[in-house]
Amino acid sequence: MRNFSELASSRRSIRKYEDKDIPLGEIEEFIKTAVYAPSGCNSQCWKFVAIKDRSVLNKIENAVICKMNEFLAASRIHLSEQYTASKEKMVSFFSKAPVVIAVFMTDLTYYDPTFNDALKAQGYDDEGIMKLLAYPDILSIGAAVQNLLLAVHEKGYGACWMNEPAIAGEEIRKILNVPEGCKFISLIPVGIPAYTPRDKKLKDLNEIFTAI
Ligand SMILES: Cc1cc2nc3c(=O)[nH]c(=O)nc-3n(C[C@H](O)[C@H](O)[C@H](O)COP(=O)(O)O)c2cc1C
Repeated sequence: MRNFSELASSRRSIRKYEDKDIPLGEIEEFIKTAVYAPSGCNSQCWKFVAIKDRSVLNKIENAVICKMNEFLAASRIHLSEQYTASKEKMVSFFSKAPVVIAVFMTDLTYYDPTFNDALKAQGYDDEGIMKLLAYPDILSIGAAVQNLLLAVHEKGYGACWMNEPAIAGEEIRKILNVPEGCKFISLIPVGIPAYTPRDKKLKDLNEIFTAI
């Protein structure tokens, strides 16, 4: 078994998958590992939906491509057909994966609402409070997703954390029949890697770390 450092350093985003199924039991194990992540006030403000149904994945793919083209058309920037075609591929490769996990965020609940109430009394709304606190709700989702990616990698599968599909977040929520209070955050296609990723260049430690 690899140690944690080896596992974390060898994980890479994988964007092409072999055409082989992943049993639901294994997907459940990934989710069980994901939810050990820390979350603000232990609110566990996440929901996961695993999608294998090709017709549902096609609907999501269409919604994302449609939104992307809407945004590009509205920008009035001239773009070559080649650019648009390659951008379409980059936002929609998830639909070819044997399984895609959609991640949603629910409201963060507090151990003690007093401080929250004090902020509200000073004019902060829920979104303003999250901004002031450096987005603990989204950070919690990030922690769970990273756990999930490592659990996937440990079992020899590959995945890619995708946020660009969030341009069609509301459409995706409706396609998946997820309640309105849940906000779509990410898609994570998972499958057996169909290629070996290139080496990753990391920033120098001096650039990103200081000890005082
Ligand atoms: C929050 C977040 C959002 C991302 N969104 C996308 C995405 O929409 N599409 C994509 O292809 N990759 C996406 N990625 C993957 C990054 O491109 C990738 O992690 C980065 O290039 C480093 O490569 P590595 O994951 O192989 O280490 C995302 C990664 C993170 C952390």
